[in-house]
Amino acid sequence: MNSRDTSVDKEGNSVTSSVQALILVGGKGTRLRPLTLSAPKPMLPTAGTPFLTHLLSRIREAGITDVVLGTSYQAHVFSDHYGDGSDLGLNLTYVTESEPLGTGGGIRNVYDELTADTVLVFNGDVLGGTDIRDVLSTHERSGAEVTLHLVRVGDPRAFGCVPTDADGRVTAFLEKTQDPPTNQINAGTYVFDRKVIGEIPAGRPVSVEREVFPSLLAQGRHIQAHVDDAYWRDMGTPEDFVRGSADLVRGIAPSPALAKPCGESLSLDGADVASDAVLIGGTVVGRGARVGSGARLDGAVIFDGASVEAGAVVERSIVGFGATVGAHALVRDTVIGDGAQVGARCELLRGARVWPGVQIPESGIRFSTDV
Ligand code: GTP
Repeated sequence: MNSRDTSVDKEGNSVTSSVQALILVGGKGTRLRPLTLSAPKPMLPTAGTPFLTHLLSRIREAGITDVVLGTSYQAHVFSDHYGDGSDLGLNLTYVTESEPLGTGGGIRNVYDELTADTVLVFNGDVLGGTDIRDVLSTHERSGAEVTLHLVRVGDPRAFGCVPTDADGRVTAFLEKTQDPPTNQINAGTYVFDRKVIGEIPAGRPVSVEREVFPSLLAQGRHIQAHVDDAYWRDMGTPEDFVRGSADLVRGIAPSPALAKPCGESLSLDGADVASDAVLIGGTVVGRGARVGSGARLDGAVIFDGASVEAGAVVERSIVGFGATVGAHALVRDTVIGDGAQVGARCELLRGARVWPGVQIPESGIRFSTDV
């Protein structure tokens, strides 16, 4: 790649026109069901804005304005919300797969829309703190055809583990191995020379992690790693979604979309929170949501229009749009679907998922025998 073509726009922000971004947002988000029945995962609210807005703001902050969204599942939700992207200072276009083509197929599917020689590809469900410009610089310096962002994590077993040599070249791709040789994992951000995207098989599902990268390595092609310890979280599961949302509120996860960290909790416009309710652990109370007297919310994500009644306790859980948690209920490590009603004194624990619209009567589910 040639050195980047950078100019300054009328607001004084730098713009890198030789780089385009592609964000993959076409997945069904099955692990976050039932929340993803009504909205695609990147559009679920985190700290008052769709999750994807945090990533789009980071891309804009790095001076990249041309962004393609690779959509499939509920594609219209993205275009209805973002339109042409001008509100975020972006030029957004959409390419939709009628059937999901997987991560590699989704990248190949936008090939005809790409004009820049360098393409930054993002998984649309990653909350990250890495400076995107540093990843691009690594790509530029090394002369690689593909550069992968890797992060070092405590336990790499649940992720794609990526060993590198002394020069930072990727040597292997080990998906979810029990015996990882390194703690460097695939962070879901890639820089591609555009011509490499044209080599991905077209018209069929392809996984970039399981097929494209291993095949490039088998051909002896140069894949470089950009390794760091920046904030990183894949928001794919309820546990990670709750943690990521809380980290945004508390300023642990940086986002240019948030003016400033909010502290222990964030109550959005029109939220009605009783003065003696306790909101801690990065809790978010959505627009028009209600929290009753004496309720205790710790690391809770309360979507717009939901209601937590007096004396209820909600910990590390998500309460969907318009759902209700009844008085003195206990909700811990649980996902409550949109419009569901959890009766007073229910106890929902340890990974419970309440489907949208379901009504659980008073004391209808409990984990204890006292009444
Ligand atoms: P799960 O079903 O819970 O695994 O979630 P997911 O469907 O989002 O899959 P995964 O978390 O592996 O996807 C990583 C990123 O790639 C997400 O941002 C997805 O939206 C995106 N993605 C996954 N599959 C496809 C696809 O077939 N096409 C496109 N365009 N994007 C995809």
